Parts: sequence; structure tokens; C-alpha cells
Amino acid sequence: MKNQVVKLLKPLLDLEEDHILSLVETPPSREQGDLAFPCFQLAKQFRKSPALIAGELADKLPTEELAAAGFAKAEAMGPYLNFFFDRGQLAKELLASTVADQLADYQIGAGKTVVVEYSSPNIAKHFKLYHIRSTMIGQALANTYAALGYQVERMNHLGDWGTQFGKLLAAYFKWGNDEKIKADPLSELIHLYVKFHEEAEKDPSLEEEGRRWFKKLEDGDEQAVRLWQWFKDESLKEFEKIYRLLGVSFDHYLGESYYGEKMEKVLAELEEKGLLEESEGALIVRLEDKQIPPCIIKKSDGASIYATRDIAAALYRYERFNPEKILYVVDQRQSLHFQQVFGVLERMGYEFARRCHHIEFGVMKIEGEIGSTRKGKGVLLHEVLEQAIKKAEVIINEKNPSLANKKEVAKAVGIGAIVFNDLKQHRTREVNFKWDEAFNFEGKTGPYVQYTHARISSLLRRAGDLKIEPVTHAVYEQPLTWEIIYTLYQYPSVLVETVKKDDPSQIAKYLLDLCQLFNRFYAEERIFVDDQNEQIAKLALCKKMALVLKHGLSMLTIEAPEEI
Ligand code: ARG
Repeated sequence: MKNQVVKLLKPLLDLEEDHILSLVETPPSREQGDLAFPCFQLAKQFRKSPALIAGELADKLPTEELAAAGFAKAEAMGPYLNFFFDRGQLAKELLASTVADQLADYQIGAGKTVVVEYSSPNIAKHFKLYHIRSTMIGQALANTYAALGYQVERMNHLGDWGTQFGKLLAAYFKWGNDEKIKADPLSELIHLYVKFHEEAEKDPSLEEEGRRWFKKLEDGDEQAVRLWQWFKDESLKEFEKIYRLLGVSFDHYLGESYYGEKMEKVLAELEEKGLLEESEGALIVRLEDKQIPPCIIKKSDGASIYATRDIAAALYRYERFNPEKILYVVDQRQSLHFQQVFGVLERMGYEFARRCHHIEFGVMKIEGEIGSTRKGKGVLLHEVLEQAIKKAEVIINEKNPSLANKKEVAKAVGIGAIVFNDLKQHRTREVNFKWDEAFNFEGKTGPYVQYTHARISSLLRRAGDLKIEPVTHAVYEQPLTWEIIYTLYQYPSVLVETVKKDDPSQIAKYLLDLCQLFNRFYAEERIFVDDQNEQIAKLALCKKMALVLKHGLSMLTIEAPEEI
């Protein structure tokens, strides 16, 4: 409808279409219209007051053209020209359409590719809380880009290379026990890694041994590679359990080790472009922005490092996918690292450096605890997830003991509580997970949205055989009902905002608003009334609300059970 406003105003104004479009806004309340065109900016050009301009524009707009564009009227209100939709027509069209129909007009990504890199845990270590944030934010963004027509490449940049694997190998040869590793791989590998650090404090020669083993690994030593592969396979099995629980999947598992062979080419290119400098035995690249410390490319012992692998990975993604954007969904504590990596790409002369974005996020805390693998502590994510599912089960047993598929619903609600809690506020804010708060069925939570969806579904079940089809009805013109229709109509633009800002909380907040509207509607209106037309009209509205809630939850990778 914004485009319709542009079409109507274009002949009356000496302005570019894009400029007009950028001015069109949504008034704070529906009494002030459904779209508004502010006339402040035109005052200079026309040498008249904004209010006078708004009045003249209103007079000049032909009624038939307004009607043809789907508007009931356009009125000047102070400095604004306010447009009112033809409510009956819009309601009818909207309620007849599926979410897919609605999205068909918003395929802004058609023909474009975006690489979303997320999750990227480290093998032989626990999946940490910042990995769950990365996983959920990344997955939600990937879903949303895909819904808007982008070709999405979901990428897991596993931490499967680096000096820590040299240490792990050294520890394995000193204290490792195959039987123990087979029985409980991750815990045992972490135990070995922790022991290495404890012992290295007493005996610094161990560090040297670790470095030697990493060198062997980088040189392709058969024994080192075989063990590393074993550790990696075992770790992946654990990670996949978590991904299954969360309903997450990837198109590519390309860990850091994948870029091992591509490193020489990067070094050669940096050398050729005259960017490499020696500093204290290491090779570095200085950056354009002198505030950022130089990026270390190769250590004094010749070992490759994290940043260099990231440069190789970025070049690989660019060459393979030519994406419009590469998103790195990674903890904000790595922001310097990404400034350096993108800075080096820029110095190499790659325009696409500007298409790389660090999608950073704040710390997540569960009951105030955040551990470190080095000391062997750390919240075990799959334990947290299991606990959430159990808690949901207890609640369901209280609320609805006769529910048929309790186990599945408990899984959906338990995971939903954690995921929604993670996504409901802007990603850069800290997340504090509090058990009772995240499960409050009346709070701003996943279970609240899921429960609202289930309530609507139960209303629709109650309607039985009644055919719910879109009808024209005066009930749609009432303020609350119209607010609901208007909100449903805005859903695709919420997805567009989400990808523009790379911020899934746009969707979470929208879903909370929609739930609140439903709950007001349900409290204020009787749905099963004698007038069958009115009943159908109200149920059609409910049905559409359920569809949009379900779709929105699916963007956040949260399930929407029909019954809770
Ligand atoms: N494996 C890293 C970690 O757990 C995250 C990887 C981030 N992505 C990247 N391209 N560097 O901290």
C-alpha cells in the first residue's frame, strides 16, 4: 500500500519515487489513518506551510483513483496527509490469502545469495552458551532470508583446527585411555585438555610438546591426523544431538581445517600485494585504520592461525557463492578479530569486504553461571535443554494431564522457552535466563505465544464442520478488529525489517503484540454468537492469526503445537 501512495502522489509532486516512499510512514494510531505522508520537507520547495500543502494535496487527489488504489479516503490532518484503507476490501483480501501469498510480494532476495555462518562450536570442547545464541540467532536469520526469496547457504565453521589440538594430542599420548574416550568422548577429551593446562603450569616443556604435535598435524602426519579425525567424529555426534533437539540444520560443515591447504595461497597473495611485514619473527598485516592493532598472519613458529583461516574462508565463500552478504553470527567478544579480518580483505583490494558483517551478540547467562572449558567447568547445553523439557512436562501435567502427545509438546514448549528468551530482545543485549520467568505462560515468553496459538487452534476445532471462509463483515471495521487486520497485514514488512537489521527480535516482538491483540479480542468479543455470518467473520480472523503466529514461530525455529 505504501507503493500505492507513491503512485498517487508522484504526479502531484516534483520528487523521485524512492524519496516519496522513504517519507511515507505508519501513524501511531489507526484513528490518524493507516499511512501518512508528512509535508514538512515540502515547505521550502512550495514556499507554503506544511499544513496548507497537506490540504491542497488532499483536494487534488481524485476519489476514483484513491478507490482504485484501495483507499477509502485521504485527509489532511495538520502537516500530514493521512490515508485510510478501504477496510472491507483489505480485510477480505488479507483473510483470503495464505502467508505464502502475502510474502509473494516481498521477495526482495530473488536472485541473491546470502551466506549465514553460525553455531561453529569447537570440537573436543563443550557446546557453550554463546554457541546456542549463535545457533538460534543464525538459524532465525537464515529462515527469514529464505522466506524473502534469498538463496541461503547455512554454514557451520567448526573450530576443528589450531594449536589446542597439538596440546590435546600431547595430552593423549601422555595420559590418554582409549576405553575411557570411547565411553564418554567429550568429557574425557575435555579432561585431557584440562590436565594438560594444569601440568603445563608445573612443567613448561609440555607447551613445546603441544606445539610439536600441532606442527605434525599441519604437516599431515598420519597418526596425528587419524586421532584428530576420531576426536572430531565423536564431537560431531554430540553436537548433532543438540542440533536435532533444536531443529537446526546446515548446508555446509566446513570447519577451519578445510582452509588448511588454502593458506599458502593467501600468504602468497599477501606477499605479492606487498602487505606482509615481519614483526618479532611473526608475519603481520597493518590495517588502514591505525586504531586497530595489526593482524597476525603467521606465528613465529610457523603455525597458521585463526585469523588467517578466516581470511581464506572469506575468499572461498566469495568465490564459490558470490553472495550479496556474508553474516558472521559470533559473540561480540570477537569483534576485534573480525575488524582485523575484514580490514585485511580490504587492504587486499576486495570490494566484497564491505559485504561481510559481524552479527554480534551479548553474553547469555543461565542462573548467573558461565563456565570455562579450560577449568573443565561450563554449563552443559544438552543438560540445560533436557531440564527445560522436563520442566515443560511438569507444567503440562498440571495444566492438561490428559493431553495426548505430551512428550512431543513438552519438547516443543521446553525448547521454545529457551529459544524465545534468547531472541526476544535485541541481540546485542545480555540474556539472563531465569527458569520461572521463561516459562511464564502469561509473560513475554515462548510458551505464552505457543499457548495463544493453541488457544486459537482450539477455538477453530470447536467450530467443527463450520466452513470458515473469508466474508465481508462490519465487524472488521471496528477499531480493535481493524488493528488486528492491520497488524496481520504488516507481517511481511516485519520480516523485511528483520533482515535489514539482522535482528530476529523484530519477529519476537511482533508475535507478542499479535498475541496481546488476540487476547484482548478474546476477552472483549464473543466469538460463538447467533449471527452465523458474524461468527464466521470472527473465526476467519482467528484462523489467520493462528497461521501468522505459526509462521512467525517457525522463523524463530520454534514449534507451534495445536494443543498444550
Ligand atoms: N569456533 C569459534 C568459537 O567457538 C567461533 C567461530 C566464529 N567464526 C569465525 N568465522 N571465526 O569461538
